[in-house]
Amino acid sequence: MRVAIVGATGAVGHELMQVLEKSSLKFDELLLFASPRSAGSKLTFKGQELTVQVTPEGAIDADVILASAGGGVSKEKAPAWVAGGAVVIDNSSAFRYDPEVPLVVPEVNGEAALHHQGIIANPNCTTAVAVLAVAPIHREYGVKRMIVSTYQATSGAGQKGMDELLTQTHMVLHGKQAGHEVFSHPIPFNVIPHIDAFQDNGYTKEEMKVAWETRKIIGDEEMKISCTAVRIPTLRTHSEAITLELERPATPDAVRELLSRSAGVEVRDDPEARMYPMPLTASGKYDVEVGRIRASLVFDGGIDLFVAGDQLLKGAALNAVQIAEYLQEHGALKEEQRA
Ligand code: A2P
Repeated sequence: MRVAIVGATGAVGHELMQVLEKSSLKFDELLLFASPRSAGSKLTFKGQELTVQVTPEGAIDADVILASAGGGVSKEKAPAWVAGGAVVIDNSSAFRYDPEVPLVVPEVNGEAALHHQGIIANPNCTTAVAVLAVAPIHREYGVKRMIVSTYQATSGAGQKGMDELLTQTHMVLHGKQAGHEVFSHPIPFNVIPHIDAFQDNGYTKEEMKVAWETRKIIGDEEMKISCTAVRIPTLRTHSEAITLELERPATPDAVRELLSRSAGVEVRDDPEARMYPMPLTASGKYDVEVGRIRASLVFDGGIDLFVAGDQLLKGAALNAVQIAEYLQEHGALKEEQRA
């Protein structure tokens, strides 16, 4: 069993290697690919130095390919990888809206992964973090409408996003004016209500991804969802304020109890003790923190809550590896599938 990472030198690639080190996924060999810029560079996995190779034009001789080199690379190359017999777990948005391609968060709709045709899509990071809290509430109470405001870390834009936050903050602290390349405005000491391209309806693509992908993962096309996505000057972890209108009324205590036994969720909700979800506590953690659970003042029987989830982990690398683990646990990864 061979696993390949395409985009191994990026922010998510780095996390993929860390998560794979601790994963229960059984495999014999790890192959690392990136752009020609990084060809020949060495990365350490389980104490061994591995050489990064140029991503080839055609098939890759691996059983599972974890792709995290952007939508362009996936769109162009994934069909050849599938033709070569690999299962592709794709972190980009290239295939997420294709009805043939399952969009999977294992705790919510893991079995959808078993019906793949070669490609399984990993959701947008903001969506993956939100659905861990929202899906159990939907199952129990039926979510009619969901309103989300996000506080998204710079690593959502990859390693270069974190680099820009650090270098530009350094500039400001040394009395210089901050510039910007990755983000549309300087990010230090600022918040930017603009992530991804603006659409004809005035929402950004990031905001629409939350709506489209939440419906697909939860399997309810009727759910009404509105999102405002905002970039903030943190390194990692996306936080989200979520308001839910429900079919059947819920109490905060019941929701707290429900989420405390939901997979992938850690309830951190003790305002007296100043305990609530934050990037500071959620970063590096596999579970998504949920707290500030309270009765909505707008929707009778509805719920307001706050989530913070390390989007490089649950929103990307961890979720991708969990999909591979799920396939292996269900006997859906077979070496002989390979051409
Ligand atoms: P490289 O480091 O060689 O540029 P991030 O999301 O942190 O920006 O990382 C993007 C990842 O995708 C990096 O590993 C990057 O490799 C890789 N990448 C970018 N363009 C290509 C490409 N055309 N083919 C293969 N990998 C690519």
